[in-house]
Amino acid sequence: MKRILITGAAGFLGSHLCDRFIKENFYVIAMDNLITGDLKNIEHLFKHKNFEFCHHDVSKFVHVSGDLDYILHFASPASPIDYLKIPIRTLKVGSLGTHNLLGLAKEKGARILIASTSEVYGDPLVHPQTEDYYGNVNTIGPRGVYDEAKRFQESITMAYHTCHGLQTRIARIFNTYGPRMRLNDGRVVPAFIGQALRGEDLTVFGEGLQTRSFCYVDDLIEGIYRLLFSDYVYPVNIGNPDEITIKDFAEEIIKLTGTDQKVIYKPLPVNDPLQRQPDISRAREILDWEPKMGREEGMKNTLDYFKSLSEEELYKSEHRDFS
Ligand SMILES: NC(=O)c1ccc[n+]([C@@H]2O[C@H](COP(=O)([O-])OP(=O)(O)OC[C@H]3O[C@@H](n4cnc5c(N)ncnc54)[C@H](O)[C@@H]3O)[C@@H](O)[C@H]2O)c1
Repeated sequence: MKRILITGAAGFLGSHLCDRFIKENFYVIAMDNLITGDLKNIEHLFKHKNFEFCHHDVSKFVHVSGDLDYILHFASPASPIDYLKIPIRTLKVGSLGTHNLLGLAKEKGARILIASTSEVYGDPLVHPQTEDYYGNVNTIGPRGVYDEAKRFQESITMAYHTCHGLQTRIARIFNTYGPRMRLNDGRVVPAFIGQALRGEDLTVFGEGLQTRSFCYVDDLIEGIYRLLFSDYVYPVNIGNPDEITIKDFAEEIIKLTGTDQKVIYKPLPVNDPLQRQPDISRAREILDWEPKMGREEGMKNTLDYFKSLSEEELYKSEHRDFS
């Protein structure tokens, strides 16, 4: 039986990866320090004989006993609310954490895939974004802590490949949504759905003309799965090219939830990217992958998930202690 370490396993994407690899008959070692994740995302796996959970901060030395065939490094704060509150830990998990996991992969002879992001393109001057675009990032702006951590993560991963012949894979993930997102993590999908369900007006930043392209989680997981087992070492964009302005997206959510709230406008945050759309030609060609789930159906599934939360969860404000 193949053994895989998944970091960030109690988070949104990590928990879906755990499900997928358990389904594919892997032995899954799930690692997380729970800083932005939640054990409830993986508690259904606790009794599974091929699953173990390890509470650990990967920015510290990482030890795993026994063999390891694969590592998926998904640990990192991922929403602006999170990484603006814990900027240094974000930089550490992208740099020290990635270094620790590359070292572990080298020791075990394991293949490692790292979760990079469309944020490496910053506020892009090229549209749609191809993997060859170098990006437009403000290193010292508030978002720089995340963007530069991920850029460093890609660099050190490539260096381990060229210097040590390590088997590495780099996924540049674009906005992904679906069940198990945190309601109050500030990302646009849970933010709009949460506001709609609570009967609040939907907050749009700027004029709402900035665009995003949302990928449903099942599609993303399939893309990651195929990338891991491909033999391609350069970055691959994984996302859904179906682009929409935030203003139109807010209207879609209002229609979907059947409420009569309004859209209200607030100032645009610093360095908020104006356009975001992946060019997925490379993923199509190399992985024979493209997203299958349309936004309407994906949003319905996501809404059903958020509707299943208790009133208490729906109304609770974010009380994470990041100290
Ligand atoms: N969801 C997206 O749209 C998206 C887009 C681009 C990239 N990504 C990347 O995918 C990964 C997962 O994102 P997500 O959306 O699931 O976020 P998430 O916050 O739901 O999950 C991240 C998980 O990592 C854990 N973590 C953070 N720092 C850690 C550390 N030092 N040690 C151990 N665990 C740690 C958190 O507790 C959490 O469970 C991140 O690396 C993120 O940058 C996500």
